[in-house]
Amino acid sequence: MKIAVVIGSISKNSYNMKLAEFIKRRYEGKLEMEVLSLKDIPMYNIDDELNPAPAVTEIKGKIKNSDGVLFVTPEYNHSIPGVLKNALDWFSRVDRVLANKPAMIVGASTGILGTVKAQIHLRQILNSGGVAAITMPGNEVFIGNIENIMDDNGNLTDESTIKFLDKVVDNFIKWIEKVG
Ligand SMILES: Cc1cc2nc3c(=O)[nH]c(=O)nc-3n(C[C@H](O)[C@H](O)[C@H](O)COP(=O)(O)O)c2cc1C
Repeated sequence: MKIAVVIGSISKNSYNMKLAEFIKRRYEGKLEMEVLSLKDIPMYNIDDELNPAPAVTEIKGKIKNSDGVLFVTPEYNHSIPGVLKNALDWFSRVDRVLANKPAMIVGASTGILGTVKAQIHLRQILNSGGVAAITMPGNEVFIGNIENIMDDNGNLTDESTIKFLDKVVDNFIKWIEKVG
């Protein structure tokens, strides 16, 4: 199964990027994951949507060719970061590459709530008519205080978090088999 992994942070030191790479390493035998950066995606403009920048065409193609999409995102000011909302606006138009695509959400923050509020918004956006992804219900992965449970090599160190992630990834595979 091919999974496109979209990261909601473009920081070079992003915990969410490191978490995505950890997930990719851990489930290598089960899933073929490609971690995608949003750093070259320009601001969405309806005037450009039929002739977008190459970075937009490239990432849309990778999402289109995937069996499912994993979002790994921080929370900014109680919502999703602008870079992610901007990308979702591109994805929602023309060929609508997320439509009917199975989706799963993971988020890490340095705050205690671990992106709860961002994920509520993200689910709502993924459920919009233009985006229309098939987001896996339940299976909410909120990773708070990430700086305390990730080592210098980008590995999660908390066994209960890892075990929960194992379960949710298995559920995602079943979800793709069911709805994909
Ligand atoms: C602009 C901004 C807004 C933030 N807002 C929140 C927030 O609402 N809730 C939260 O838990 N953390 C918030 N944080 C802290 C982030 O969780 C923390 O910076 C995290 O490391 C960002 O993810 P990243 O490392 O993947 O880039 C905010 C950080 C920034 C820079």
